[in-house]
Amino acid sequence: MANKNGWRDLSFQGKSAVVTGAARGIGRAVAYRLAGLGARTVIWDLDGEVAEQAAGELRQLLASQGRANRLEWKQVDITDPETVASSMEEAASGDGLDVLVNNAGTTSVQQTETMPLDVWDRTLRINLSGTFYCCRAAIPHLKRKPGAAIVNISSSSALVGGGGGGHYAASKAGIDGLTRHLARELAPGVRVNSVQPRTIDTELFQARYAHAPLEQEKILNQIPLRRIGQPEDIADAVAFLASDWAAYITGQILLIDGGRTYQ
Ligand SMILES: NC(=O)c1ccc[n+]([C@@H]2O[C@H](COP(=O)([O-])OP(=O)(O)OC[C@H]3O[C@@H](n4cnc5c(N)ncnc54)[C@H](O)[C@@H]3O)[C@@H](O)[C@H]2O)c1
Repeated sequence: MANKNGWRDLSFQGKSAVVTGAARGIGRAVAYRLAGLGARTVIWDLDGEVAEQAAGELRQLLASQGRANRLEWKQVDITDPETVASSMEEAASGDGLDVLVNNAGTTSVQQTETMPLDVWDRTLRINLSGTFYCCRAAIPHLKRKPGAAIVNISSSSALVGGGGGGHYAASKAGIDGLTRHLARELAPGVRVNSVQPRTIDTELFQARYAHAPLEQEKILNQIPLRRIGQPEDIADAVAFLASDWAAYITGQILLIDGGRTYQ
C-alpha cells in the first residue's frame, strides 16, 4: 500500500524478472532498465548467440556505471510450451519470479488475400500463443510474490491496424484482450498491463525504412513530439508498470507513440 509521507525509489532490488525476446531492440532496453534498477534479470531469446552477447554487453555497461547487476540469459523459443514451462521453472528457482515482460514478437509485410497460411499461423503462434504460454508458466510463481506484475508488449496496430498486415494487428489485439482478462483473473495478487509502441527505432524499423528517407520524413512529420521513438522510451514505461510505483494500475493498455495516433 502507498505510504502517504514515505519516500520510495523506483527499484527492483530483491526482485527477479524474465524478459522475452530481449537479445535486441525493445526487449534489450527493458532488460537493461530492470537489471540497472536491481532486478535479477533473465534474457530469453530464440537467438542464443545474440542473447549471450547482449547479456555480456549489458553487464559491462552496468558495471561501468557502478551498478551491480545480475543478468542471465537463455535460448528459449516461446512457441514451444514445454521449453517455456521448464525454462520458467529454472528462472524462478531460488529467488522466485516477480516480473514477466512478454516482448518477443515478429511481423512481415503481407496483403490478406495473398498471405500464406503458415505465415498467419506462425505470427499468431509467436506473438499471441507465445505470450499465453509464458503467462501460463509464470502465473504460479508470480502468485507467490507480493507486488508481482506482467507487462505485455502489444502495438498501436491493435488499435489502428498496420504494422505489416492483419496477422500482426490481430495478434496484438489478442494480446490486449488477454491482458484485460488476466488483470481480472489474477487480481489482487498479480497486476497485468500492456504497452502499445508505435514507430520505435529498432532493427525491425531500420530494416523497413533505412532505405526510404522520404517515408521516414513523412512519418516524422506525423509525430507531434517530432522524433522517432527509442527503445528506452518503451523500457521506461515498462519499468514503471512493472514496479510498485504502478501498484494501483492493472488492466491498462498504454499507447506510446509520441502523440502520432490521436491528434
Ligand atoms: N519497433 C517498433 O516500432 C514496434 C512497434 C510496435 C510494437 N513493437 C513490438 O515490440 C516488440 C519488440 O520489437 P522490436 O522492434 O524490438 O523487435 P526486434 O525484431 O528487434 O526484436 C524481437 C526479438 O524477439 C526475438 N524472438 C522472435 N521470435 C521469438 C521466439 N519465438 N522466441 C523467443 N524470442 C523470439 C527475436 O530473436 C528478437 O531478438 C515486439 O513484440 C514488437 O511487435 C515494436
